[in-house]
Amino acid sequence: MKVTAEHIQAFKNIVGDEYVFVDAETLDFFSRDETEKLQFTPEVVVKPRTAEEISEILKICNRDLLPVTPRGAGTGLSGGALPQLGGVLLSTARMNAILNLDERNLQVTTEPGVITEVLQNAVKEINLFYPPDPSSKGSCFIGGNIAENSGGPKAVKYGVVKDYVLNLEVVLPTGEIIWTGANVLKNVTGYNLTQLMVGSEGTLAIVTKIVLRLIPLPKYDLLMLVPFASLEKASEAVSAIFRAGFTPSALELVEIDALKIVSKMVDSFAVPVNDDIAAHLIVEVDGNNVDVLMSEMEQIAELMIQYDGGEVFFADDSTQKEELWKLRRRCAEAVKSVGYTIEEDTVVPRAELPKLIKGVKELGEKYGFHAVCYGHAGDGNLHIRINHPTIKNSHGNEEMTNILRELFKIVKGLGGVVTGEHGVGLIQKPYMDIVCDSANIQIMRAIKKAFDPNNILNAGKIFD
Ligand code: LAC
Ligand code: ZN
Repeated sequence: MKVTAEHIQAFKNIVGDEYVFVDAETLDFFSRDETEKLQFTPEVVVKPRTAEEISEILKICNRDLLPVTPRGAGTGLSGGALPQLGGVLLSTARMNAILNLDERNLQVTTEPGVITEVLQNAVKEINLFYPPDPSSKGSCFIGGNIAENSGGPKAVKYGVVKDYVLNLEVVLPTGEIIWTGANVLKNVTGYNLTQLMVGSEGTLAIVTKIVLRLIPLPKYDLLMLVPFASLEKASEAVSAIFRAGFTPSALELVEIDALKIVSKMVDSFAVPVNDDIAAHLIVEVDGNNVDVLMSEMEQIAELMIQYDGGEVFFADDSTQKEELWKLRRRCAEAVKSVGYTIEEDTVVPRAELPKLIKGVKELGEKYGFHAVCYGHAGDGNLHIRINHPTIKNSHGNEEMTNILRELFKIVKGLGGVVTGEHGVGLIQKPYMDIVCDSANIQIMRAIKKAFDPNNILNAGKIFD
């Protein structure tokens, strides 16, 4: 059903006139996120402040079968926040308070519209640590991170968002407000509804309060950059580090083409981009004993020589570290801006990474596109960016969909899946059957129906 003037008035009565938008500029802003070059315009944008307001809005939408698309900061890469059915775009931007920092229990309770880095800095002030750090941490919302079960570089040692979520307050599509669990470290009191919400991409409920567990902040971190003349050798070195007994706090791979593009965009010459370099590994270790960390770094550097690693560059101070991380974090944005519009988020068991990279390059040659790789090599989680001469979106494009189906068959053959941290959303749906049995999808559909009988909440995401 379409949004009517009566609906708009009803939403205004709930949240206040100034937080309901139908002007062209606002609708245009909310029609895009960071996914490919996609655009879908909502009929109305509503910015509620409380769970109670969301409940009232959802009751109306559920009664009148209006599509509702929840949205955090719009930094997503799978189209999860795109209102492809029009309808109501529900922004959590005003729900941006950190509610309680519980130092006794090492927990924090927050609203979903808090920027991830703001939350991290707030807990850092009392020497606590919330590790998940997606590249967009300076702008993404913690609520969006819950929806996508985000990762980031630190995941390799500290795990992803799911490893920190203890309890959630959510509004069900039918309007009930519930807590999914309790603020405890262990809980087998029935099905784990909390973890069911994490990564459910806003299809089951709208998260309105989040309780996260925190850990003590490590005192030191050391960072080095290792160049490799061969991309394959760099990827082989990755699993060797773990087999040798080390767990870096980050282990990222950046192919040289990505580094060239991002260095130009941010105007940085921190890393030389010689023609004999094919890729770099970024290796970080952290902990409380700096001598132990130094020794670990030296041992890892030595190990890299066996994989033809070149001369290692140690980041000496926080300025150099920040510069390196800036280059890594802005890869996605940089390569997209020069035509690498299609991004994949493949993940395979770590030791299979060299085979995945080989497969990607062969596909590129076969189908005439250029691919650049970067990502969380330590997790086997490789972002593949595709620059095709004519095709700029995979969504709705049969030719690119067929190419990507071939890619995901390689991924599946290596024991991997379609997405490690960006979610299925709109754009990875055509590949779900490659990695999920129909019985799995049927169970997912039944769960969706139990939460959202009228299919109003982010309908058409994950599966049709
Ligand atoms: C990154 C985002 C794209 O790793 O996941 O940069
Ligand atoms: Zn990533």
